Amino acid sequence: MAGPGPADQAADWYAECYGGEPEGVWHAPGRVNLIGEHTDYNEGFVLPFALSQGVRAAASKRGDGVLELRSRQAPGEPAAVPLTALAPGSVTGWAAYPAGAAWALAKTGLPIRGTSVAIDADLERGAALSSSAALECATALALTELHGLSVPRPELAAIARRAENEFAGIPTGIMDQSASLLCQAGHALLLDCRSGETSDVPFDLPAAGLVLLVIDTRVRHALSDGRYAARRRDCEEATRALGVSALRDVTDDPGALDKIADPVLRRRARHVITENHRALATVGLLRAGDIAGCAPLLSASHRSLRDDFEISWPQADAAVDAALAAGALGARMTGGGFGGSIIALAQARTSVDVQASVRDAFARRGWPRPGFLEALPSAGALRLR
Ligand code: GLA
Repeated sequence: MAGPGPADQAADWYAECYGGEPEGVWHAPGRVNLIGEHTDYNEGFVLPFALSQGVRAAASKRGDGVLELRSRQAPGEPAAVPLTALAPGSVTGWAAYPAGAAWALAKTGLPIRGTSVAIDADLERGAALSSSAALECATALALTELHGLSVPRPELAAIARRAENEFAGIPTGIMDQSASLLCQAGHALLLDCRSGETSDVPFDLPAAGLVLLVIDTRVRHALSDGRYAARRRDCEEATRALGVSALRDVTDDPGALDKIADPVLRRRARHVITENHRALATVGLLRAGDIAGCAPLLSASHRSLRDDFEISWPQADAAVDAALAAGALGARMTGGGFGGSIIALAQARTSVDVQASVRDAFARRGWPRPGFLEALPSAGALRLR
């Protein structure tokens, strides 16, 4: 969980931007998706957990109806806009996410007033750890609590997603915002993306002597580059060809996909269907206390994303192979694909070897040094002070 350090840093940044103390500091974490990839917008199952790293919003009310946004990570790109002038396209760049949160709150009928917001983060951008969702969620939580509005967390997640979809224009599912707002420490979050039902699934890595390494391949992805949207369209076409309301409804019987003539669409659908099964099997193992038993499912998920969904990238495949070669129990790419991070589940005592193996594999190919993080399943968004 974020301690007083990050809160003080965010407050210091607020003082640099606006002078004085912020009325409050809120934190929203990034997330790692353990399994259940590209299933959320197919009404399936996802199993993310929150990181301890994330985004802080230090904020105070102001009387002029203006939303002002400044980020320590983008000091040259401040934004200030009257709330009444907020509309999709009116704010671009990093500030579109927090501005979108304010816009989506207002669209939902929640009366947000002028606010000064200072953003500080310790989450890599473009590493598939949902830095944009964390930015939306930290801002949405800050704005609602600052202005005395009480919004149930699932509703706030839907509002933050609306910011991403309608204001920033990126057609993502509901996973990232749900993870940032709903996760509990020491647990992953099972989310049924059809019913919206959630449950906390025990995921105590230290107690099991295990680590989950997040390995940043340094390849940057942008969900806005069209490839994510293209996979969504593939899934919609496959859904139509099968005559179901969502791929969630297709069983994994052999022959279930025969109605799809196009072999590419058939592979896309096969990924989603098998991934839903893997996600639920992972939940079963975690509930039985068998974290290590999930490892083969992680590796199978990677092969499915690489071969059927075709969203892996060379650095991810090399990192997965190098991690497994050094004794990792299972490994997969995580997030939307085409860049970002992989995750590797390993015995804690082999963590150093796994890291060395991936580092060497990258060095041999002349690729930039990868980044490593031992992820700790942490609490969802909260007020720090
Ligand atoms: C991104 C999106 C999510 C989800 C994943 C893929 O993170 O924001 O909604 O679709 O990709 O599982």
